[in-house]
Amino acid sequence: MAEDAILGYLEKNDHISDSGQFAAEHRIDHNEIVNVIKSLHGFRYVDAQDIKRETWVLTDEGKAYTATGSPEVQLFLAIPPEGIPKEELQKKLDASVFKIGCAQAAKNKWVEMGKQLVTRKIQHVDDKVKDLLLQIQEGEAINQDDIKALKARKLIVPQTWKGYSVKKGPNYAPKRKKVATDLTRENLQRGDWKEIEFKEYNFTAKGLPTEGGHLHPLLKVRQQLKDIFRQMGFEEMPTNNYVESSFWNFDALFQPQQHPARDSHDTFFLQAPSTTKELPEDYVQRVKQIHESGGYQSRGYGYDWKREEADKNLLRTHTTAVSSRMLYLLAQKPFAPKKYYSIDRVFRNEAVDRTHLAEFHQIEGLVCDRGLTLGDLLGVLHEFFARLGMSKLRFKPAYNPYTEPSMEIFSYHEGFGKWVEVGNSGMFRPEMLLPMGLPEDVRAIAWGLSLERPTMILYGIDNIRDLFGHKVDLGLIKRNPICRLGL
Ligand code: PHE
Repeated sequence: MAEDAILGYLEKNDHISDSGQFAAEHRIDHNEIVNVIKSLHGFRYVDAQDIKRETWVLTDEGKAYTATGSPEVQLFLAIPPEGIPKEELQKKLDASVFKIGCAQAAKNKWVEMGKQLVTRKIQHVDDKVKDLLLQIQEGEAINQDDIKALKARKLIVPQTWKGYSVKKGPNYAPKRKKVATDLTRENLQRGDWKEIEFKEYNFTAKGLPTEGGHLHPLLKVRQQLKDIFRQMGFEEMPTNNYVESSFWNFDALFQPQQHPARDSHDTFFLQAPSTTKELPEDYVQRVKQIHESGGYQSRGYGYDWKREEADKNLLRTHTTAVSSRMLYLLAQKPFAPKKYYSIDRVFRNEAVDRTHLAEFHQIEGLVCDRGLTLGDLLGVLHEFFARLGMSKLRFKPAYNPYTEPSMEIFSYHEGFGKWVEVGNSGMFRPEMLLPMGLPEDVRAIAWGLSLERPTMILYGIDNIRDLFGHKVDLGLIKRNPICRLGL
């Protein structure tokens, strides 16, 4: 309706000088007129020019008086011709009406505030205030003195009114044409594409924020760690198997079959397929032997090693399973020193709490060469952790079935003001390396840590469930920084 009114008017007239007036004359809401003008302007049906005017609008109090009349008139009308005691008059009126009414009526010399009675001084009054307020509400102009008085009584306040003056634009037409947004198969078949007017492309329109392409904090920190490993000359190990046999996860690592970690309370075993299809048989024999009766100057564990136990499939509990496969492969060729790393997921049957999940990511580094010593391990660890921003390290003797010596790694955390455990490390035992077939003087030093721990510290997350799993807030992933300095 507003659109027809504007386009129709411009067909016969040169211009609309004031959208406000136009709205009033056509009894259309001005906001509606403004929206239509903006839209028509966008498609260049019309040209529009801003106009601004200072106008006055009624305050709540002003609005109230347009209905009830001004306080002074209310007071005047409450006085009977014979007069009324002040207290009685007060009871008849609202407190504020009485107070303002008294002051204004006295000022207008309408009433006499006698000692005994309040009486009328004249017989009839006009409600000029109410009339003025109604005029303002209608948008009519009133004189400056009246404006001043009403403003002083806080019955009106100034407001900037915005509208438009409008004339025909380059695309003017008395009716808006429906423009096509798509070229269809039918348009082509009918041939009407020649006549159709197509909507122009808006090359400056902004798109919606992209929904995809956000990296999880773990992936960002993983990338930073990969960079560190590569800068140190490490190659990545293939970790693309969550399912592993007990053999590579435990037995090859000289972890006895009665070890508590091999219990279903700690490890997820697979139901289907429950066992592995193949293992290198001659190597299996050597592993069986080292467990049962030792060799290479070791006494072994002295128990009955069972193949069924080694065949059981599980979700790998550590990435050291991958390291054992890699070392075995290395032993099948003429020896060459290697530096390997991996960062991938591992699984443990754990009670979930704010720092533990049943799955997490492990970072593992491995160096293998002739004649390496514990000093080499200490050196590599210092180098690696310094690149992570942890240059104060301490070590504590520890135990792993597959390393000797073993060391827990602690780093001084400046923020927490204390030493925090950051990883585990050691030199792989001869009972692990020699049955693989590695030369006798080859040593392997290795360490492992979780990816979640440094990520939580860097991103200030104190509950692991806010970082990983189904409760993670997607907003956190979309908004978190590209990287965190400190690593
Ligand atoms: N596999 C160990 C763990 O899961 C970490 C480790 C890796 C320890 C290599 C020593 C050598 O905690």
